[in-house]
Amino acid sequence: MAALRSTSRLLGLASPSRAAALPAAFARSMASVSSAPLDATPTSSSDTRIKTFQIYRWNPDTPTEKPRMQKYELDLNKTGPMVLDALIRIKNEQDPTLTFRRSCREGICGSCAMNINGTNTLACLCRIPTDTSKDTKIYPLPHTYVVKDLVPDLTHFYKQYKSIKPYLQRDTPAPDGREYRQSKAERKKLDGLYECILCACCSTSCPSYWWNSEEYLGPAILLQSFRWLADSRDERKAERKAALDNSMSLYRCHTILNCTRTCPKGLNPGHAIAQIKKEMSF
Ligand code: SF4
Ligand code: SF4
Ligand code: FES
Repeated sequence: MAALRSTSRLLGLASPSRAAALPAAFARSMASVSSAPLDATPTSSSDTRIKTFQIYRWNPDTPTEKPRMQKYELDLNKTGPMVLDALIRIKNEQDPTLTFRRSCREGICGSCAMNINGTNTLACLCRIPTDTSKDTKIYPLPHTYVVKDLVPDLTHFYKQYKSIKPYLQRDTPAPDGREYRQSKAERKKLDGLYECILCACCSTSCPSYWWNSEEYLGPAILLQSFRWLADSRDERKAERKAALDNSMSLYRCHTILNCTRTCPKGLNPGHAIAQIKKEMSF
């Protein structure tokens, strides 16, 4: 497939091992660096601050064309402070074909996860670097199949999420017939877990997940898994642990901690995985 390039190479990471057998409608999240004509933007006024953005482009309607980086220029004095502001402005004013996901624009929905200057993060929480001498480079989340431009295919990710049964399971009725109550201490155990927005920044930064994503659940799903293991109201802990008790689902984590470093919500999936391993050992 001529359209495939390794994002990991562009990002200075290890090379991928499973590039074969991709559906024609998908390309890996990588691009050859070829420039396209710049769109017209203000250039000469002394009170302009022109910033160049290089953005990954790939169109499934022309699958034989290689992914490429396209340059856009914006005056930072006329642009909001976040990378998502820049993307929206480019789409609205320069190139309506540019495709990306976004919804809440405040770090809640997880839609705008992408790789910005080498880091997986949320475009709506990522400030535009103000140094106009350096381009800002924007790619889809690494090691994902690309639907179009900055939109990754997260079908498998959500399938894995479904597999851990991410909901309360219990048979015992609530004592008052209405609510499953928790003590303050029990509720506190969910802090640092329930805040996860399933953006997939952590999983797509994890080398173990890159190589084994068919079977390894990855940090995001394992953090969610621990969220239910840690819930005092849940009565399926034995079954939940049994589902993880194999060589691939959990134990592919090698404590590299890329996941924790990149989480835009400041969560610690590496620690959650360590907690699961600790619980599994007893
Ligand atoms: S742990 Fe953080 S990076 Fe991972 S999916 Fe949740 S919010 Fe996103
Ligand atoms: S700590 Fe585990 S889950 Fe996190 S990046 Fe490393 S191998 Fe992946
Ligand atoms: S738009 Fe919702 S997290 Fe960025």
